[in-house]
Amino acid sequence: MTTKVKIGIIGSGGIAAAHARAYLSFPDVEIIGVADIIPGKAQSFIDDLGIEGATACNSVAELVKLDIEAVSVCTPNVAHHSASVEALHAGKHVLVEKPLAVTLEQGVDMVKAAKANDRLLSVGFQPRYDPNMKAIKELIHSGTLGDVYYMQAGGGRRRGMPGGTFINKELAGAGAMADIGCYSLDLVLNALDYPKPLTVSAYTSNHFGTNSKYHPEADKFEVEDFGVAMVRLEGGKVLNFKISWAMHMDTLGPTLFLGTDAGLKLTPAGQGPWSGVWDGGIGSISLFHDVNDHHVETSIPVQEHNVDIFAEKVRDFVTAVKEGKPAPIPAEEILINQAIIDGILRSSELGKEVEIHIPEI
Ligand SMILES: NC(=O)c1ccc[n+]([C@@H]2O[C@H](COP(=O)([O-])OP(=O)(O)OC[C@H]3O[C@@H](n4cnc5c(N)ncnc54)[C@H](O)[C@@H]3O)[C@@H](O)[C@H]2O)c1
Repeated sequence: MTTKVKIGIIGSGGIAAAHARAYLSFPDVEIIGVADIIPGKAQSFIDDLGIEGATACNSVAELVKLDIEAVSVCTPNVAHHSASVEALHAGKHVLVEKPLAVTLEQGVDMVKAAKANDRLLSVGFQPRYDPNMKAIKELIHSGTLGDVYYMQAGGGRRRGMPGGTFINKELAGAGAMADIGCYSLDLVLNALDYPKPLTVSAYTSNHFGTNSKYHPEADKFEVEDFGVAMVRLEGGKVLNFKISWAMHMDTLGPTLFLGTDAGLKLTPAGQGPWSGVWDGGIGSISLFHDVNDHHVETSIPVQEHNVDIFAEKVRDFVTAVKEGKPAPIPAEEILINQAIIDGILRSSELGKEVEIHIPEI
C-alpha cells in the first residue's frame, strides 16, 4: 500500500475548494482536516465536497494537532502570516495562497519560521504552471533578448472590483497592486530570476472603489483600485508596473521585455473586461529583432491551456513534500514581490521615491 501525504486545509472559503478538489484528485493524498474560524463552516465544506473521514476544526491550533504533514493556507490575506507561522512551528509544510502576506515584516517572519523549522513554505502562484510562462523564461534565459533592461508589466481589469475582505486595508493589506499585481510582478521578475529591487516611485488611487456609482460597498473601500510604479532593479534594469481593478480602458497595454538584442511583447488572452496578462493568460507572444528592419517580427506560437495550472501547483507542492524537494515557489524569493508592494504603498503615501530593503534571513 502506498503511503498517502496527509493534508490539512486552513480557511474553507472559495479558493480552499479549489485546493480540496485538486488534493481529492490525487490518489496519494488524504485530506485529514479542515479548519475555519466561523463555527460550522469547515464541517459544511467537508460535507459539500464529500471529503471522507476529514475532521472539522475551529482553529489552526486544533488542526495542527492532527496527524498531518502539510497544510494549504486559504484564509484572507491578513491571516496568511499567523496561520502559516503556527503551522510551520508545529512542523507542517505550508502552501500559502497569494499574496504571501499583508506586510513585508510578516513575510520575513514567515520565511524565518520556515527556516527555523526546516519546513517548506511555497506560494500559490498557479500561472507559473502556464506553459507560456515557462516558454518566456526559457527564451529570456537563452539570451535571445540580450541584456534585458526594461520590463513593462501590463494588464489589469476594466470592471473587476472585488468586495468583502479584499477591500479592507487591515485584512487585505493592499488592493489591486497586491491582489492581481502580485501575479504581474511574478510573471516578469520570475523570468529574470527575481533581480533585487532598489527603489520605487509609485502612485495609487481609488476613484472607482470609493464611488457608489461603481462599487456597492463604496463606504467600506479602503485600498487602491489602480496603481502605477517605476521600480529600479539591480543590474541597471527598470520595471514599469501598473495594474487596475477598474478603469475606463480595455487594457493598460501589453507586457514588454526590452533587451539589447531583441524585444518581447506578450498580449492578453481572454475576452472583454476581465482580460489581462496579469494572471498569466497570454494570448500572443511576439519577438522583435533589429531596430533597422521593421519586418523582422516573429510570432511564437502560444501553447494551448491543456494543463490545469491550479492542480499543477498543488501537485508540485505535494511532490516536494513527498520527495523532500525544495519549495516549488519559495517564499524567500517571493519576499521580493512583497517588498515591491510594500515600497509602492509607502511611496504613494509619501508622494516620493522610496528605497527598498529586504532584511537578510
Ligand atoms: N490563487 C488564486 O487563484 C486565488 C483566487 C482567489 C483568492 N485567492 C487567495 O486566497 C485567499 C482566500 O480567498 P477566498 O476568496 O477563498 O476567501 P474567502 O473569504 O472565500 O475564504 C476565506 C476563509 O478563511 C476563513 N478564515 C479567516 N481567518 C481564518 C483563520 N485564522 N483560520 C482559519 N480560517 C480562517 C474565513 O472564515 C473564510 O471561510 C486570499 O488570500 C486570496 O488572495 C487566490
